Amino acid sequence: MLAGKRILLIIGGGIAAYKSLELIRLIKKADGAVTPVLTRAATEFVTPLSVSALAGEKAYTDLFDLTDEAEMGHIELSRSSDLVVVAPATADLMAKMAGGHADDLASTLLLATDTPVLVAPAMNVRMWLHPSNQRNVATLSDDGIARVGPDEGDMACGEFGPGRMAEPAAIFDAIAAQIADGPLSGKKAIVTSGPTHEPIDPVRYIANRSSGAQGTAIASALAALGADVTFVTGPADVAPPLGVRVVPVETAREMLDAVNSALPADVAVFAAAVADWHVTSQSGDKIKKTADGAPPSLALSENPDILAHVSQLDEGRPKLVIGFAAETNDVHANATAKRARKGCDWIVANDVSPETGIMGGSENAVIVIDESGADEWPRLSKERVARRLAERIAEALK
Ligand code: C5P
Repeated sequence: MLAGKRILLIIGGGIAAYKSLELIRLIKKADGAVTPVLTRAATEFVTPLSVSALAGEKAYTDLFDLTDEAEMGHIELSRSSDLVVVAPATADLMAKMAGGHADDLASTLLLATDTPVLVAPAMNVRMWLHPSNQRNVATLSDDGIARVGPDEGDMACGEFGPGRMAEPAAIFDAIAAQIADGPLSGKKAIVTSGPTHEPIDPVRYIANRSSGAQGTAIASALAALGADVTFVTGPADVAPPLGVRVVPVETAREMLDAVNSALPADVAVFAAAVADWHVTSQSGDKIKKTADGAPPSLALSENPDILAHVSQLDEGRPKLVIGFAAETNDVHANATAKRARKGCDWIVANDVSPETGIMGGSENAVIVIDESGADEWPRLSKERVARRLAERIAEALK
C-alpha cells in the first residue's frame, strides 16, 4: 500500500517510543520505507540499533555527525521523504516546532522540511492540557501540521486522561490517508458515526450511548485505503479522523439530509447510533418544573431510518450498503432479521451487553452477516475491526 513511499520518522523521547517500533513494522509490512531519526532523549527509551534493525536503514541521531553530512546533509534529509512523522511528539518537541527552534537534528529537520508533517503527541495528561502546550498544538494546526491522537486512557505515569499516543495502527492509517494510493482510490464512501441528539428543549436532549470510536476508525481505515470519505458524525466523544470530509450533525433528520447530500457513493457504512425517536414539538424555552411536581409528558415521533432509506433507494443506491446491529441478546438471529428488514448488503453485528465492555471500550467482537451467511471475527481492537472491514469492502468493490 505504501510501495515507493518514504517516511521520515522522528522519534521523540517519551515512553511511547516503544510503540514507534511497531509503527516501523507496519510501514515496512505495507512496503513503505522508513528513515528513522531519534532525539537524544529518545535513545534513552529505544536504541538506535533496534530502530535501525527494524527499518533496515541507518538511524540518525546527531546533527553534527560529519559522516551523515558527507552522506546526506540535514537539508537533504529533511526533504527526502513523502511525509515526516513525529511519533511520539513530546511536549518539548512540539514546543520547539511551534517556536521554530533548531537546536538538534530532529528540530532542525522539522524547521527545514518542505514535506507535510504529521505529529502523534504523547505526554502526561497535565502536560497535554497545560495552556502552553494547548497554545503550541493550536499553532501547529494553524501551520498546517496534521495530528493523530492523543488518545484518552491509562498512562504509564499512573494517571488517566488524554495524552496517550495513538495506537500504531491508527498512526499508520493517518499516514496512509495522507500518502497512500490504495485499492479504494477513486471510490466514494459515506460513513455515519456517533450518536444523534434529539432536543427536548434548548438544554435537554434524548440520545443513544455512542463514543463514535468504531465509526471513526472505519472512516479512517477507508481513507487509508484511498477512499474519498464523507464522515457524517453526531456529537461524538472521539475526534474525527484525518483526511476525510467531516459533516457534523446533531439530529437524525440532519444526518439523513447530510447523507442524501453526500450521495452518490460506492459504499455507505452506517455506524451511527441513531435515536429512534425525536420529540414531536421541541419547546423553544427551557421546560420548568411545576409546583405540583407533575413531570412533563413528551410526545415522540419516529425518526427516519437512514440505513433503510439508502438501502431501498431505487436510483443512486450505493453498490454496497452496510449497517450495524448492536444487540444484547440473540445477536445472530436478530442481526440476520435486521439485514432482511432494512434491505442492506451486510450487517456488522455485535453484542453490546454491559458485561462485554464493548460499548465505549476500545475493542469489538463482531459477526459480519451477508447474503452467504455469517463470518465471526475474533475480539479485536476497534481499529483492527475497521481495517479488516475496509479490506473486505475493497475486495467487494473490485
Ligand atoms: O434498527 P437499529 O437501530 O437497530 O439498526 C441499526 C442500524 O441502522 C445501524 O447501522 C444504524 O446506523 C442504522 N440506523 C439508521 N437510522 C435510524 C436507525 C438506525 O441509519 N434511524
